[in-house]
Amino acid sequence: MHFTEKILVLDFGSQYTQLIARRVREQKVYSEILPYNVSLERIKEFAPKGIILSGGPSSVYDKKAPLPDKGIFELGIPVLGICYGMQLMAYMLGGKVAKAAKREYGRAELTIDDNSDLLKKMGARGIVWMSHGDKIVRQPKGFTPIAHTGNSPIAAMANKDRKFYALQFHPEVAHTENGTKVLKNFVFNICKCKPEWTMQSFIGTTTKEIREKVGRDKVVCAISGGVDSAVTAVLIHKAIGKQLTCIFVDNGVLRKGEADKVESTLKKHFHMNIVCVDASKRFLKKLKGVTDPEKKRKIIGNEFIHVFEEEAKKIKGAKYLAQGTLYPDVIESTSFKGPSATIKSHHNVGGLLKDMKLRLIEPLRELFKDEVRVLGRELGMADEIISRHPFPGPGLAIRIIEEVTQERAEILRKADAIVLEEIKKAGLYHDIWQAFAVLLPIKTVGVMGDERTYENVVAVRAVKSVDGMTADWAKIPYEVLGIISNRIINEVKGINRVVFDISSKPPSTIEWE
Ligand code: XMP
Repeated sequence: MHFTEKILVLDFGSQYTQLIARRVREQKVYSEILPYNVSLERIKEFAPKGIILSGGPSSVYDKKAPLPDKGIFELGIPVLGICYGMQLMAYMLGGKVAKAAKREYGRAELTIDDNSDLLKKMGARGIVWMSHGDKIVRQPKGFTPIAHTGNSPIAAMANKDRKFYALQFHPEVAHTENGTKVLKNFVFNICKCKPEWTMQSFIGTTTKEIREKVGRDKVVCAISGGVDSAVTAVLIHKAIGKQLTCIFVDNGVLRKGEADKVESTLKKHFHMNIVCVDASKRFLKKLKGVTDPEKKRKIIGNEFIHVFEEEAKKIKGAKYLAQGTLYPDVIESTSFKGPSATIKSHHNVGGLLKDMKLRLIEPLRELFKDEVRVLGRELGMADEIISRHPFPGPGLAIRIIEEVTQERAEILRKADAIVLEEIKKAGLYHDIWQAFAVLLPIKTVGVMGDERTYENVVAVRAVKSVDGMTADWAKIPYEVLGIISNRIINEVKGINRVVFDISSKPPSTIEWE
């Protein structure tokens, strides 16, 4: 990325590290996260205008405490330490850190003693968010305290000559009043960055980079119907037009109208080369008799790769494979915490197409999910695609409890479409993280007209969430639930009862399988 206005965040394992980078980028300044132990050469090569040391769960006196290269303090650029980052600065620059008598978690009242630079425009007092067990008992030489709380006499400190600053609280979290102002002061007033990171500039640089990299070669891209792969395709298409071919695989467990929607958007609206493969029979055959959810996932993942590979081989001269890898995936695989469980594994087909020797292009690998949405809008994509609910790779197969058959997939597709239609009609779609129907393997008795029925049950699941990690069930109005239930029972043959799932995650999960 050819930007000169950059802030580097060194990651010491805080759950808020990504948030720091996002908050900086919200100020239109590019920010990247690197593991704490990255080499000084790499940092120099990145050439940031300032460095932020994140928080982290360690104590500086732990035997295995993560320490950065000491050279970062000799680069002549501003450094801001947050929480563990602060203790680290104190420890490495000759101050004293000790266990706090009282651990401080949650809100605290901050009194500002010096509001001349980092804490400018913060007022005299403010509520801040703390989470630490250690505290600074003596600041290093050259530093002065600039704020305190009842429990921390040095809640913020500065060495103005060297432009080193440190905060015991987290300015990046929403609970800290004026936290954004603190980060803005650091980025603009102290590091002297200019706000140049916009989606338009991103599109400009990235399309140029793609053109240079690809030359006259061809690129293939797997389209899943999700936001990331669609935005990837549109961006690459903008760069190289017909040199890109998208491959969309219908695995038989997609939502109603999904294949048509993808085709019409990419083909009719953006005039892309797109190959749509109806492989539903193949997938359903492989899924025959399978009830174990993990087996379903594996079968669908593997079969996807086979189908994709077959189709990609037909595209003569294809040298590159485009993927919608996002920044959080990149950080997870490079961060010192080690790779955490990745749920989207089957879309990462790159490594598996070994004999094709396709090289990877991942133009979104520097973006967060919300930035991908902004990018999609800038590229002229319809909101209908940009703000869609997430849909799992294994699709309806993990929402058909027990064996997947074509008939069951058909029943669930219809019920699911009704749930989404009514949620949209009621104006609830954008407040909900995911809403869908689940086909249960139990039959219950009903009565339709004068006849007794004995048919299946559909569960409606709707959750609110920010990242899918935790979720609460969405309080959908009874009237809307009533309409959904009525319509499903009347319109979907094979269903005579609808129930609503009122479990939160944890201890439940969002999907039923
Ligand atoms: P759970 O059910 O674990 O779901 O609470 C959390 C989020 O992950 C999605 N999910 C998947 N996505 N492949 C995917 O691509 C999968 O196998 C998979 N399983 C769950 C789920 O839809 C929710 O957004």
